Amino acid sequence: AHVWRGVIEEYRDRLPFGPDDPVVTLGEGGTPLVRAHALSERTSCEVWVKVEGCNPTGSFKDRGMTTAISRARALGARAVICASTGNTSASAAAYATAAGMACGVLVPEGKIALGKLSQAIAHGATLLQVEGNFDDCLDLARKLAESYPVELVNSVNPYRIEGQKTGAFEVVDVLGDAPDIHCLPVGNAGNITAYWKGYTEYARDGGTSGSPGPATRTPRMWGFQAAGAAPIVLGHPVDQPETLATAIRIGNPASWQQAVAARDESGGLVGSVTDEEILAAHRLLSSEDGVFVEPASAAGVAGLLQRHAAGELDPGQRVVITVTGHGLKDPQWALRAADGGDVQPVRVPVDAMTAAGALGLEG
Ligand code: F0G
Repeated sequence: AHVWRGVIEEYRDRLPFGPDDPVVTLGEGGTPLVRAHALSERTSCEVWVKVEGCNPTGSFKDRGMTTAISRARALGARAVICASTGNTSASAAAYATAAGMACGVLVPEGKIALGKLSQAIAHGATLLQVEGNFDDCLDLARKLAESYPVELVNSVNPYRIEGQKTGAFEVVDVLGDAPDIHCLPVGNAGNITAYWKGYTEYARDGGTSGSPGPATRTPRMWGFQAAGAAPIVLGHPVDQPETLATAIRIGNPASWQQAVAARDESGGLVGSVTDEEILAAHRLLSSEDGVFVEPASAAGVAGLLQRHAAGELDPGQRVVITVTGHGLKDPQWALRAADGGDVQPVRVPVDAMTAAGALGLEG
């Protein structure tokens, strides 16, 4: 049986790692590509979701963290630092610990999901809550990395993008070709940059790993920002970004130009989705397709539904959506009823007839 060895070993010939370079891995990548039947039916397309919540720390960040931390080890780094809306900090903390390095994380005060905060602390990171937003945290992290002996592991580090491009490789390896459209949420814009790099490299070099038949196509890249944090859509930075999808609450993305290039070179788009659209997509994905994601991860789904409603999809098109983080990262949103109130569990005595009645079972 084939045992998945993590993205560096699986794709070493396509990554900037030689045979003797150190590898720090937690077995990331190789995540499920799941056929989303309900979404397919609604859109008359063939929709697949790439479930990145199945990575070791529950988000796609692990693909880029194995490469960034392995590189930091090769450089002899003792400590790493990152700014984060939560997932990067969880991933950096885990991989730094596995590498025996110290990790400092800068997060916006009060705006990161509890699951992510818990992870950073569990893995022993030094966590600073900065009196500012993500963009302030990233500025601060960059300054620290310039002046102190600490490696920056945000996606401005090119090794992060290298690792994350393997998501595109896996999609093509499973489907045999690129999809027509690839949807994903956009925050700091590292992931859309990375997927586009992966797709274009595969198309240029030909072939999927381990199988013949060159991949010659690239997809249209459809990125979606939250409406309250949509600088690329607006064409200017947003000073006070706001969205319940805290992971993508970013007003001045570091990879802005690269995201615009991915959009334009692929014939794609960067759009925005409201928090209401995000929550509706979040609910649809969990209740109809069986995939539980965090709110930010539903932005790509919300975007696809929005564009379908606008008549921009052709029936039968093949669509892949990267759902970036696990629902357990930020589970509170599932407990909100459609009317905005809290979902209350039904209490029953230890009695079969009462339980059956409450379950709506007929005798
Ligand atoms: N989805 C999730 C769950 C994320 O955590 C992020 C980014 C994105 C989407 C957007 O990806 O930044 O590459 O455009 N989270 C970063 C963090 C900012 O600090 O965890 P992007």
